[in-house]
Amino acid sequence: MWVKVHDTPDFVFFNHAAHVTRGVSCVSCHGRVDKMEVVEQVEPLSMAWCIDCHRNPEEHIRDPALVTELDFKPPDGQTFEEYGRHWAEKLDINPNISCSTCHR
Ligand code: HEC
Ligand code: HEC
Ligand code: HEC
Repeated sequence: MWVKVHDTPDFVFFNHAAHVTRGVSCVSCHGRVDKMEVVEQVEPLSMAWCIDCHRNPEEHIRDPALVTELDFKPPDGQTFEEYGRHWAEKLDINPNISCSTCHR
């Protein structure tokens, strides 16, 4: 089961729905929790981590209906980036990188 291993500081605004409804999978941020004996934090939750993906989200975008399929692989030998770019265009994905997006 999930345990409290992730925690963003109070001065950071984070919103799950803004990600999962826009095709960012749980696995991009939490890793293969289904394969972990004990849930551990796989990503640093640093500002650079957030911003790196906001700048180049393509490889993390997929059909929003598939965000909980942790072992998802793109069809037809496509890379995650090729597949993701298609969905990013279709959903008009354009993450914000201004300070007030995450600090309010
Ligand atoms: C864009 C990155 C991102 C995505 C995608 C994402 N999460 Fe999270 N998740 C986080 C962050 C960051 C936190 C910590 C939030 C906080 O402390 O305010 C968190 C916290 C959680 C928690 C609270 C428990 C804990 O470990 O603290 C659960 C449960 C969770 N996520 C499940 C999911 C599931 C299930 C999905 C897919 C449907 C998902 N998340 C998708 C980043 C993400
Ligand atoms: C793996 C990629 C990824 C990571 C990591 C990530 N984000 Fe995002 N984020 C996105 C995408 C994609 C969107 C949706 C953009 C859109 O709807 O056009 C988004 C949207 C948001 C939004 C809604 C406003 C907006 O730009 O549309 C907030 C707030 C946000 N992210 C905060 C965070 C914070 C804080 C973190 C780090 C704790 C984080 N994100 C990490 C990809 C990511
Ligand atoms: C996509 C989300 C996001 C954006 C955009 C963002 N930040 Fe952050 N910021 C974070 C997160 C997450 C942390 C917490 C990092 C941690 O705890 O290590 C943070 C931490 C900080 C801190 C505390 C630094 C520290 O070392 O404790 C400052 C100051 C800050 N941000 C300023 C800014 C400024 C100025 C901008 C605009 C140029 C900005 N941030 C844009 C997510 C973001």
